[in-house]
Amino acid sequence: MPNLIPLITLASLLTIPFTEAQQTPIAAVILTRHGARTPLFKDTKTFTEGNSELTLEGKNQLFERGQFLRSRWGSGGSDPMTGFSETYYQNQTYVRSSDTDRTINSAQSLLQGLFPASAAPTLTLANGTTLNAPGTGDQQVPIHVVDNNIDYVLRGWFNCTKLDNHVNELFKSKEFTDYQAQHQGLLDAISPRFGRSLALSDMWNVFDYLNVQRSYNSSFQDLTSSQWSELTDMVNYLEYQKFKPGYAAANFINEVVTQLQGAAVPGSAQKFTYYSGHYTTFTNFFGLTGLSTTNTSLQAIPDYGSTLIFELLATPGSNDRFVRFSYRNGYAAPVAFPIANLPVIAPLADFVKTMDQWSKSGLKGWCDICGNTVNRGCETLNLKSGDDVGAAEAKNEGGVTPVVGGVIGAVVGVLVTGLVAAGILFASRRRTPAAQPETVSAARQPVVFAKQV
Ligand SMILES: *[C@@H]1O[C@H](CO)[C@@H](O)[C@H](O)[C@H]1NC(C)=O
Ligand SMILES: *[C@@H]1O[C@H](CO)[C@@H](O)[C@H](O)[C@H]1NC(C)=O
Ligand SMILES: *[C@@H]1O[C@H](CO)[C@@H](O)[C@H](O)[C@H]1NC(C)=O
Ligand SMILES: *[C@@H]1O[C@H](CO)[C@@H](O)[C@H](O)[C@H]1NC(C)=O
Ligand SMILES: *[C@@H]1O[C@H](CO)[C@@H](O)[C@H](O)[C@H]1NC(C)=O
Repeated sequence: MPNLIPLITLASLLTIPFTEAQQTPIAAVILTRHGARTPLFKDTKTFTEGNSELTLEGKNQLFERGQFLRSRWGSGGSDPMTGFSETYYQNQTYVRSSDTDRTINSAQSLLQGLFPASAAPTLTLANGTTLNAPGTGDQQVPIHVVDNNIDYVLRGWFNCTKLDNHVNELFKSKEFTDYQAQHQGLLDAISPRFGRSLALSDMWNVFDYLNVQRSYNSSFQDLTSSQWSELTDMVNYLEYQKFKPGYAAANFINEVVTQLQGAAVPGSAQKFTYYSGHYTTFTNFFGLTGLSTTNTSLQAIPDYGSTLIFELLATPGSNDRFVRFSYRNGYAAPVAFPIANLPVIAPLADFVKTMDQWSKSGLKGWCDICGNTVNRGCETLNLKSGDDVGAAEAKNEGGVTPVVGGVIGAVVGVLVTGLVAAGILFASRRRTPAAQPETVSAARQPVVFAKQV
């Protein structure tokens, strides 16, 4: 067909918008922050946190995110995804949440919006009896979790030695104490509400308490808008400074790349991979990839229900695959960002190569990037080289303290005992609530640490 050649040549000379129009999504990986919730206390240095749950407002936020994705990818959508179905199919969709009530409920809410209730299906049994679906025809999408202590993908910032060191240095730094001094007036003005003097390092808890009151308590509206905007700046500064090194995004990046590569395999059924997590992973991701250095608006805590969207694109009739990364902050319009030196629509191979510098896989990757030789299972990696893995498992289960790889000695022994105690507490806590959703409890493993070798 020689008469087509000039056209093709012309197309290849045209600029990116033309090319973009040629490329359509064939799969996606997303991360959401949970929606609005009840107050969440966090320890300033260890990040150990209390309980919190999604509010109705939070459920509506994530429901809207699901509707938004359906209006993007569904049939008749703004950017229809090849093969995407509004009916849930096991081979197309995989959902993983961090193991907290607020993120699991967030995932449920988004999935309700993405896979809407439909005419309730029926099932005819072999003996001819026809069964109706339970309830109102909502589609049920399984949500997978792993225990928080081994969740390096969505909760990797706990007990991460390099991060802890970074935060300790930050709190002592001149920049930090200068910044606090600049805002001492506001700290003093609001401290009576808390009955104690306030520090910048504790701004997360201060902000969170005030933010929740401001949203849900009509008799708590006396902060001025300039006080509120200064408070918001302070908490954004604090959380960005804490989490910008991005250690805890490394395992998440590995997941994103792995999932996109899987979806790119010819014939793959995979369409939608969904991670339901926390703003920390956003801040880590923006920091690690340099996005928040390039665009300072990314130095703020993402709004509730914010979404990272990694779309795998294809040109019809070609095996070329591309990745487009977009960020949707709360209800704002999504913005597509170039990562590092990549174009906004980057060939998959280039995307993989660029992400590789930040990507870490599994427990070993997490221990490496955090510089950990103890905590969260890293000590079992050390033991492995000392070849007595059985002893490591016995120790983790029974509390027997062996010689730890012959290297670290008594201090580690003490830490390991603490770890075992934490494991036991964890296991017994998780047995208590009887009414966990089936999809969640099925993925839980009672013995956590011994399984990590
Ligand atoms: C068919 O099987 C179902 C489930 O075992 C049972 O409840 C129902 O009574 C059976 N119907 C007939 C007609 O045997
Ligand atoms: C709402 O705010 C008022 C005024 O500060 C306070 O006294 C009250 O305890 C708050 N209510 C709740 C449920 O926190
Ligand atoms: C995915 O599952 C659906 C429903 O079971 C099936 O129709 C479809 O052929 C499967 N797709 C692939 C690529 O296996
Ligand atoms: C920076 O990011 C914001 C989203 O947080 C976006 O609206 C804006 O367009 C970005 N600016 C540039 C120059 O990319
Ligand atoms: C985290 O570190 C603390 C000591 O700082 C320890 O008590 C705790 O068991 C560790 N948690 C895990 C999951 O390793």
